[in-house]
Amino acid sequence: MVLKAELHCHIEGAASPALVRKKARQNGISIDGLIDANGHYIWNDFTSFLNAYDRAAAVFITEQDYSDLSHDYFSSAAAQGMIYGEIFASPDHAELAGLSYTAYIEALADGIKRAGNETGIEGRIIVTCVRHFGPERAEPVARLLHTHPHPMVTGFGIGGDERMFHPADFARAFQTAADAGMGLTAHAGEFAGPESVRAVLDELDVKRIGHGVRSVEDADLLHRLREEDIVLEVCPGSNVSLGLCSGRDTHPFTALRTAGVRMTLNSDDPPFFQTSIGQEYEEGALAFRLAAVDLVAITHQAIEAAFVDEPTRQRLFQRLFDD
Ligand code: ADE
Ligand code: ZN
Repeated sequence: MVLKAELHCHIEGAASPALVRKKARQNGISIDGLIDANGHYIWNDFTSFLNAYDRAAAVFITEQDYSDLSHDYFSSAAAQGMIYGEIFASPDHAELAGLSYTAYIEALADGIKRAGNETGIEGRIIVTCVRHFGPERAEPVARLLHTHPHPMVTGFGIGGDERMFHPADFARAFQTAADAGMGLTAHAGEFAGPESVRAVLDELDVKRIGHGVRSVEDADLLHRLREEDIVLEVCPGSNVSLGLCSGRDTHPFTALRTAGVRMTLNSDDPPFFQTSIGQEYEEGALAFRLAAVDLVAITHQAIEAAFVDEPTRQRLFQRLFDD
């Protein structure tokens, strides 16, 4: 089995319908209309997806709930050959559940460590703010990185609706996170075009872009991504599910690869898009005609772009090399 690494997975979006059902029952929360008879989340466009995501997240309330959530995701990913994963964690969602930032991060870290002890998988946490909540909510989140540092929190990012606000509105939050030593990434070029990616590169000192696939529409931007060594966290299954393209066969992955852009493969919100890191590699291999050596190169790229210290990076490269 090809060893895998993923840099783009929202932990609340990784909650399986089975775990959400269990936690909803335990915590006495209604999830009527959230999951269909086949056990799939119910949504039909980006807005209803974000709503379903928020409702699923709302059943996770206690530290045990969040520890179980990250343990579940990392254990299942390890069984698919993943050796390293970064999860987006959203303090805004924890706050809605009434959990403090430190309790939330400690709980997620506990789940990662438990999965690590059982399988050898390693993980880090990217604290993320939400674009459509605006800069007033983002800045306090970034300040938590200074007031409550945690060794497993190594990155800062932004998700949500990129059509709202402007990257410049978040420059202060990103600078605060950079000053705390965080690696930086931002979602862009998913629902908005190349101008959205360019605005992120102009305003936020990111090393990676979440999605970024619509950069394919602009040759000058592709040149810039190459020149600045930006890595795209590409999530083909998510893009197909959310209607950016009709199928993997029409996904811009190959065009971006041919243009020399650095990319990794990721699952984004796996059960919402009926995918997983294993399926992204497997279906990517078929659709983009990737041989095993190409898939290993993608894992290598992910480790190279991971928000980890150098000894950890070298250890992960070694695992890949030894395989
Ligand atoms: N949050 C969770 N999934 C997302 C996506 N695909 N795009 C933007 N924000 C998200
Ligand atoms: Zn995402």
